[in-house]
Amino acid sequence: MTTDRLMVLDLLVSVLAAAAWVGAGAAAAARRPRTAAALMAGALVASPARAGSVLALAGAGWWFVQEKVTIALPLLLTASVVAAVTAGPRLLAASRAASEAGRDAARSPAVVVPLLGAGYAAAAGPVQTFLLGYPAEPGSALILLAVVAGAVLLTWRAMTPRVPLLRAATAATAVAALAGGVLTFIPATTAAAATPVAAEAATPGAVALAAAEGGHDMPGHGMSAQASAPVRPVTDLRGPSAPAPGGTVRRFTLTARTATVTLSSGRKVAAWTFDGQVPGPPITAEQGDLVEVRLRNADITEGVTLHWHGYDVPSGEDGVPGLTQEAVPPGGEFVYRFVAAQTGTYWYHTHEVSDIGVRMGLYGMLVVKPRGSATTGVDLTLPVHTFAGTTVVGDHDQPVLQEVAPGTPVRLRLVDTDNTPHRFTLAGTVYRLVAVDGTDLSGPGPLSRAGLRLPAGGRYDLAFAMPSGPVVLRVDDRTEAVRLTTAADGPGNGPGTGDVTDAEDAAAAAGWPELDLTRYGTPASTPYTSRSHFDRRFTLVLDRGLALGDGLPIYAHTINGRAYPHVPTQVVAEGDLVRLTVVNRGRETHPWHLHGHRVLVLARDGRAPTGSPLWLDTFDVRPGEVWEVAFRAANPGLWMNHCHNLSHADLGMMLHLAYEGVTTPFHGGHGG
Ligand code: C2O
Ligand code: CU
Repeated sequence: MTTDRLMVLDLLVSVLAAAAWVGAGAAAAARRPRTAAALMAGALVASPARAGSVLALAGAGWWFVQEKVTIALPLLLTASVVAAVTAGPRLLAASRAASEAGRDAARSPAVVVPLLGAGYAAAAGPVQTFLLGYPAEPGSALILLAVVAGAVLLTWRAMTPRVPLLRAATAATAVAALAGGVLTFIPATTAAAATPVAAEAATPGAVALAAAEGGHDMPGHGMSAQASAPVRPVTDLRGPSAPAPGGTVRRFTLTARTATVTLSSGRKVAAWTFDGQVPGPPITAEQGDLVEVRLRNADITEGVTLHWHGYDVPSGEDGVPGLTQEAVPPGGEFVYRFVAAQTGTYWYHTHEVSDIGVRMGLYGMLVVKPRGSATTGVDLTLPVHTFAGTTVVGDHDQPVLQEVAPGTPVRLRLVDTDNTPHRFTLAGTVYRLVAVDGTDLSGPGPLSRAGLRLPAGGRYDLAFAMPSGPVVLRVDDRTEAVRLTTAADGPGNGPGTGDVTDAEDAAAAAGWPELDLTRYGTPASTPYTSRSHFDRRFTLVLDRGLALGDGLPIYAHTINGRAYPHVPTQVVAEGDLVRLTVVNRGRETHPWHLHGHRVLVLARDGRAPTGSPLWLDTFDVRPGEVWEVAFRAANPGLWMNHCHNLSHADLGMMLHLAYEGVTTPFHGGHGG
């Protein structure tokens, strides 16, 4: 069974156990000893079963069961034993008696209170998992115990005025709650002080220091190395002013402004745009060119920046407000410069209030081709975005139609600019997935009848030679995004002679199995592997839970139980080989994205890729999955490391990766 299924199963068992215990208590209180006994029997099956489901889940890793093994399960099992021992014999006697006296005996506090108490203890498990998440800490555990104890005491008081040791029990409960509150509050405030972009970090130097303290995984390491690392402000880490030999300078000006955009159907949408269009003007270059982009802001009151998604620009050009620059206010401007070193398909987007900004349209494409590569054939860049519930490809809310002569080389560059993954199918032709996130795959084999799941922020390049029949690209098995036809089978001419059935049948395409990227292509050598020596290892456990956000407690998307800006910074030194483990304990997919570096996938759920090496900048960590990736810290700076579901990022799922010695003069703090 997959980890995801085990998580669901365990949740189901825990809810069943809680319901059975509470039901038994309620039935006893309602003077129905038989029903109560039957429900209690069910509870006595479900409660030990929970131990089994937790044990099974533990096989996927300690992260998935930490709070269950340390708190929820001991609490459930203890309360179950107490209830069985105290209420069990009485309830059995009462149900055998089947008399009025028996019915009355069932509703005695000695029966009802332990049964309901076991119910509260059982319910504490799922409550803890959903509300507090990973990891369980002594503070939150104490609060949870106090709540359960308080509920038991209240129930007892409601049933009889004579509760033994009432004062002492109430006092103990209050002390536990208080101690829990103090323990929960204190770590939160110290973490706040360790955040590099806290207001007091405005002085250069303070950031690197604070960041080093935050590097939990390497106690002490950060501080000692700190002394030797030269101090550099991130504002000094800028791009060059000249292209690489043979390259030219490509100048662009992008003006951010609100506009009403007309989609291909004539439908109008209110948008935030670059130059009045959505997507923004494409930025194209050849490898080695110097790209210079002047960003102006006309009227985006929230401010705007440009982040080059997947493009490993110098840190000072990375466009993260409050970290590498201040957001550009209306009337302001900022000039970005970088050498187009990587070829492939990338995109740019605002990083200021990016959750809203990107959704409203502040994004565009960045495509870099090898030097001197003549454009032959058809090359379409196809950013998929959702505007007010409608799937839009580029500015098309209807299929992109194009006539292509048979035999013409076609390249489709798929880009997911949304917060969630999209499933693509290409019908009517055999094709290859030649590049992922801008990097060419090794030995990509022919594909047909496959579903391609593209993570939020990710890119796939598909290539094929135009066949003699129509080719159809669909998104999410419903929206026809692109329809390529040969002159003979053009629109209105009916089906052509190609693999027509595939191209025509959306229902069939919906059933095509999803391509597993970790088994696609052929292996090739990589500069490091999972057996390499790693200088740093970091683990990110993704979950939901109550956490301190930017000022207030929120129901956050958490990283190791914390929400941005209170997640300790990952500190690395230039040259380090870094291993990152990302664990998803939650119910939602998290497209993980590190700025400034491509990561090499070492393993997913413990299994190394058997196909092409995968160099990604965004990888989908689905519920229950564990990803191991690695990167060489070769691009000094201060970087965001975050979930690219930007509404998750907005709810706390971000942190910083800082190179020792790099400081920032900015203190906006929100990171976008
Ligand atoms: Cu595509 Cu931090 O961003
Ligand atoms: Cu997420």
